[in-house]
Amino acid sequence: MENVKIVGCGYARASSKIENEALKKAVDTSDEWIQTRTGIASRYISETENTSDLAICAAQKAIQNAQINTSQISMIIVATCTPDNVTPSVACIVQEALGLNDKPVMAFDINAACSGFLFALQCAASMLQKGYALVIGAETLSKILDWSDRNTCVLFGDGAGAVLIQRAQDGSTMDFYARSKGDKEHALYCAGRSLQPDLENVAQDKPYLSMNGREVFRFAIQAMPDAIYGVLQGQPVEEMDLMIPHQANIRILEYVSKKMKFPMEKMFVNLDQFGNTSAASVPIALAQAWEEHKIKENMDLVLVGFGAGFTWAACKIHI
Ligand code: ACO
Repeated sequence: MENVKIVGCGYARASSKIENEALKKAVDTSDEWIQTRTGIASRYISETENTSDLAICAAQKAIQNAQINTSQISMIIVATCTPDNVTPSVACIVQEALGLNDKPVMAFDINAACSGFLFALQCAASMLQKGYALVIGAETLSKILDWSDRNTCVLFGDGAGAVLIQRAQDGSTMDFYARSKGDKEHALYCAGRSLQPDLENVAQDKPYLSMNGREVFRFAIQAMPDAIYGVLQGQPVEEMDLMIPHQANIRILEYVSKKMKFPMEKMFVNLDQFGNTSAASVPIALAQAWEEHKIKENMDLVLVGFGAGFTWAACKIHI
């Protein structure tokens, strides 16, 4: 258990809102198929922004929301699988944009795909000694999508969410649970530029996201309860006031809700507007819930996610 608390949140959307209907120009699909199979109605797609632009915008909003002095930020962690560059990290670009180059700041990126924000939050909560940690999930998945593949291009969106945390003495806590399992790499896969070419299987080396949707679905519906039960350590799930899950598919969330007897009304859902924004999905949802005053003092909430790797994680927050 870490004695830390959230002091502010912010989120940023990519510039262009794309409704399901518009995707019919790119692939053989329909609004009806996408809505019934996923719950997604629209998503925001970057036209000009890099991941760092969205991360900076979300960070600035979190700083404004927390009303803190930026110079007190001592750590910046960005969770992303779509960084602008191999190096430098998005976190260093954010540091520069916030004018923190001359300050004692540790800034780095991590990649745990859609679970990345929860992994980053755990790193920050356990390493933070003084000042504030800025924890961001930011993605431009649209840049690694094959826009002729209807299995993937309809699912994802671009955005960023940012959270500021500090050490707490007022009883605020965070508990964590995180797991990885590397044996199903091709269920959700995107080759990197430095990968040794596989001359016998060139298709596998394409720098686009490929996915076995059914396999990911099967994984998700057992990983989410595992992470929730893992972090709650025997505490009944019905004691949670709010659940903020990774926003991948409404059917996954409905399945988890039914299996765990946790009402959908207590699950924060925004995937209809945003689609799946990977590592940005949980912090965008958290920031939206924060903005809408759905998170109040003395509440217990659970954040939960799953993603490529496979990875899965949860965080229980007592505010
Ligand atoms: N529009 C129309 N038809 C489509 C589309 C589309 N966009 N995509 C697939 N289809 C077709 C398929 O080709 C298939 O046709 P066929 O029967 O003629 O072969 C049919 O629809 C059914 O396809 P399924 O894959 O069986 O559809 P399913 O009900 O499993 O839904 C989905 C697919 C939505 C991808 C589902 O499997 C799912 O949500 N899986 C989890 C995905 C996920 O969560 N991914 C991200 C998690 S991790 C991360 O966030 C990075």
